[in-house]
Amino acid sequence: MCGIIGYIGPERASGILLKGLKSLEYRGYDSAGMAVIDSGRIICKKGAGKVEEINKKVDFPSIEGNIGIAHNRWATHGKVNDVNAHPHLDCSGNIAVVHNGIIENFEELKKELKGHSFKSETDSEVIAHLIEEEMKDLPFDKAFIKAISKLKGSYAVLAIEAKSNKVMAARKGSPLVVGVSSDAFFFSSDIPSFIDWTKKVIYLHDYDVVEAGKEIKIYNLKDGFVSRPIDSVEWKAEQIKKDGFEHYMLKEIVEQSDTIRRAIQQKRELVERIAKQLKEARGVFLIGCGSSYHACLTGSYLFSKVAKMHVNPVLASEFKNYKHFLKKESMIIAISQSGETADVLEAVRAAKEKQSKIISIVNRAASSLTRESHESLLMNAGPELSVLSTKTYTSQVALMAMLAYTIAGRYDEGMAKLKKLYMDIYNLTSRNMRDRLRALAKRLLNEEHIYVLGRSLQYPTALEAALKIKEVSYIHAEAFAGGELKHGPLALIKKGSPVIVFVSKDDKDIIANANEVKTRGAYVIGVSHKNYDIFDYWIKTPESEELGPILQIIPIQILAYQLAVLKGLDPDRPRNLAKSVTVK
Ligand code: AGP
Repeated sequence: MCGIIGYIGPERASGILLKGLKSLEYRGYDSAGMAVIDSGRIICKKGAGKVEEINKKVDFPSIEGNIGIAHNRWATHGKVNDVNAHPHLDCSGNIAVVHNGIIENFEELKKELKGHSFKSETDSEVIAHLIEEEMKDLPFDKAFIKAISKLKGSYAVLAIEAKSNKVMAARKGSPLVVGVSSDAFFFSSDIPSFIDWTKKVIYLHDYDVVEAGKEIKIYNLKDGFVSRPIDSVEWKAEQIKKDGFEHYMLKEIVEQSDTIRRAIQQKRELVERIAKQLKEARGVFLIGCGSSYHACLTGSYLFSKVAKMHVNPVLASEFKNYKHFLKKESMIIAISQSGETADVLEAVRAAKEKQSKIISIVNRAASSLTRESHESLLMNAGPELSVLSTKTYTSQVALMAMLAYTIAGRYDEGMAKLKKLYMDIYNLTSRNMRDRLRALAKRLLNEEHIYVLGRSLQYPTALEAALKIKEVSYIHAEAFAGGELKHGPLALIKKGSPVIVFVSKDDKDIIANANEVKTRGAYVIGVSHKNYDIFDYWIKTPESEELGPILQIIPIQILAYQLAVLKGLDPDRPRNLAKSVTVK
């Protein structure tokens, strides 16, 4: 997730764009930059690092000119460095673009652009060169439209051209709004970047293209010229960063229909290369901490069930007990949202001493783990600002499933299943579901203990559910494999004990476990595709064999959130915890 900002009006653009960059830094802080038209030339300044660090080097406000664009980067394609920072220019340096999204066909497009020299590794740069190519026969605005119509994937794009006093904009699948004041137009991924100048906004639709100069024209690639209403925004800037949600945790839970879609937008040849290496490896270890470890454990079940492959899930902090098994032919998959977790880095360094191959699944391209890895799959989930891992956990599981299906030679089948999740997750995170789970949270609010049961793929899901509840609401929550109940934990159950039971399709054994706790007086909360008589409360989730761990955790993420809010706690900042555990 990146942030893009644009301005055309009577003021000096650089000051407005710098303020915008700072207000959107939560959308990406790997690198930043801006490009402004100054007397018929494009002045472009950019770099890796946070906005303020770059500003100290390049002095953004010194740039003159009243038409400009700017960008906060969250790297998806290409390392984090100055060259890959946006804006990107064409060969002549007369066209500048900024982009948020993923261009899926950028490699084919680059091949068609004979004679063009590309400076960066990014997908976005190709847009500037496409416009340049089209401008051999067309004026800037028409060349922009032609270029945009060739893109596949998701985009919110802004472009300027040295001799054209206008900003061109387009969106498909990535957010872009237009701010309208009496004498200026603002463009942004998010309203906070211009809310100090205007609260009048035009929400663009997918396939909309905007030409903004003295006036604004909106054209839709499918419907031709359109007019969009001008709305007004009542939120305060801080609220808007949370898209109107009270906390980042809820915003990030609700984002999951999009983040799962972004997680699976990987280059097929990279996924297939990693899958091949995994198949050829002699000993595969999946390592992580906390929720990322639960993704490893889920991955081990998926590799076993789908790919018929044995892998070893190990807590990173326990890995030292296994590292003597490692050989050159061994392979490590290290999963870490932050890519900075000390235990994970220590385990990876130990593996590298044995010349084992390191694959990482990371959310931050500019992380220590990415640098230490031979290959990385980026989650593309955008910054996760709540301490709790929600959207990044489901992205990790989605990537585990993608790898398992690819190893099994069923890539297309796996991708089809993963793409189908969008509507299921959209419904699971709806306001209606959130209100229902708030009512359940009210019932559980004063409980001292909450127990969670699951078998097979639902066992790591139960562990993740218990972690979410305990770390955000401070209610003790404990998960057990269903088959372990009679080996001790059943002694804990008494009248009214709340027990959450994850049920997969036709799993009779877990229903038997539900019966065991029910006969001892438990209050049984079933997370299942169908209602069973044994349930006192039913949370309906879509039926999905292998991808159940993604769907079934979502209601419990929401339940945990509601418990924290009802207890008057801050779900984004639980006591004693940090977003990234960079110390052992
Ligand atoms: C998840 O809700 C926790 N905040 C925590 O367990 C987290 O998953 C763990 O610290 C690992 O972090 P990482 O993914 O950045 O390595």
